[in-house]
Amino acid sequence: MGNCCGAQANVNPASRKPPSPELSKNNIKQDKSIKERSGSGSGNGSSNGGEKTEIAETGTIITPNLKMFTFAELKSATRNFRPHTMLGEGGFGRVFKGWVDEKTYAPTKVSVGIPVAVKKSNPESEQGLKEWQSEVKFLGKFTHPNLVKLLGYCCEDQQFLLVYEYMHKGSLENHLFKLGGAESLTWEIRLKIAIGAARGLAFLHTSEKTVIYRDFKSSNILLDGDYNAKLSDFGLAKLGPSDGDSHVTTQIVGTYGYAAPEYIATGHLYVKSDVYGFGVVLLEMLTGKQTLDINRPPGQLNLVEWTKPLLPNKRKLKKIMDPRLRDQYPLKAATQVAELILKCLESDPKNRPSMEEVLETLKRINEIKEKPNSKEAKAATTQPQPHHHRSPHRPKHGGTGAGIGARTPPHGRTGRRG
Ligand SMILES: Nc1ncnc2c1ncn2[C@@H]1O[C@H](COP(=O)(O)OP(=O)(O)O)[C@@H](O)[C@H]1O
Ligand SMILES: [Mg+2]
Repeated sequence: MGNCCGAQANVNPASRKPPSPELSKNNIKQDKSIKERSGSGSGNGSSNGGEKTEIAETGTIITPNLKMFTFAELKSATRNFRPHTMLGEGGFGRVFKGWVDEKTYAPTKVSVGIPVAVKKSNPESEQGLKEWQSEVKFLGKFTHPNLVKLLGYCCEDQQFLLVYEYMHKGSLENHLFKLGGAESLTWEIRLKIAIGAARGLAFLHTSEKTVIYRDFKSSNILLDGDYNAKLSDFGLAKLGPSDGDSHVTTQIVGTYGYAAPEYIATGHLYVKSDVYGFGVVLLEMLTGKQTLDINRPPGQLNLVEWTKPLLPNKRKLKKIMDPRLRDQYPLKAATQVAELILKCLESDPKNRPSMEEVLETLKRINEIKEKPNSKEAKAATTQPQPHHHRSPHRPKHGGTGAGIGARTPPHGRTGRRG
């Protein structure tokens, strides 16, 4: 089977899926984006085995050292992509758990060597190659404790695959919305996750060439066994503005409910557009509610619109806090998180804090430790701890993972997927 990367890199952008009708007024921006993609395409694929070692501004050493897997190896590592090994699903395709040798990354038997996550593009996805290239280009270059590690890739015929370190506790989305009530995350763990994710995003924004992540959402935040958060899914990441520009103009892709309003309205993508998405996820963590949910009453469908007026008021805030926290959080800290959310959700990107400021604020909030002193608080301390939780990775046919298709229409990715 021939390697397909080089041949396809130049032709694929023309087949880009058009934005959803609501966004089509921005089609005019599409050409520029396509050209940018084509330009960077040839350098991103199989040639990115990477001999170069660079040092990012933050001091992190970048040593691209990706393995090029054959399709047969990944088929073997995942037992032929057997459905019960499926960890999740997004717009790019399905993610399977596999096993490889720790040193050589050769496929091994189950429970021998190290577990890996293998993402396989949906053959019908027109975005497949571009997203695959983007992941290799960005994720393959960075080493950071809050970015998921890309181990290698495969590109054969029409198959695009990516191999990542396996994240034992799956996605934040699964923990917040898909597990039973008793299996909720504690306040401390939520803050730990928020701090980790903020650090990952701040790193991207301050690296040598600013990277805009563009698809910050709870299904793209993965958790290791100790609830360290790592950003995954760099399929939509984009280089930020240069030469003193405030934004880049690009085709609108991302996810409804998380994408910043200025980006949806104009196609102008700012570094601070990511900060808006961060604010939405922080709001989801505070309330335990998904950004868009058509099963909620009409006035509550959109979490941001519904809760924004409630966040500044302590009494109202208490009412919208995730009941699964069982009042086990310092109210002062929750109030400050609510203030931070409001700043992140400012409609003018200029008024939003930088991710470094967000990170510092979250660290300060994390210092607030006073505990509530109520009967419920005592009852809550007897609740099961998260590490006893059922694995969120158990496949559920027809709806597990992050597949946007399985969700309701307003949750769809803008111009993309899940
Ligand atoms: N490295 C990993 N370890 C464990 N689960 C993962 C891993 N990568 C992805 N997943 C699961 O698969 C889902 C989809 O992965 P993602 O990379 O977001 O795919 P897509 O690009 O298709 O959106 C995630 O939300 C998560 O549940
Ligand atoms: Mg995803």
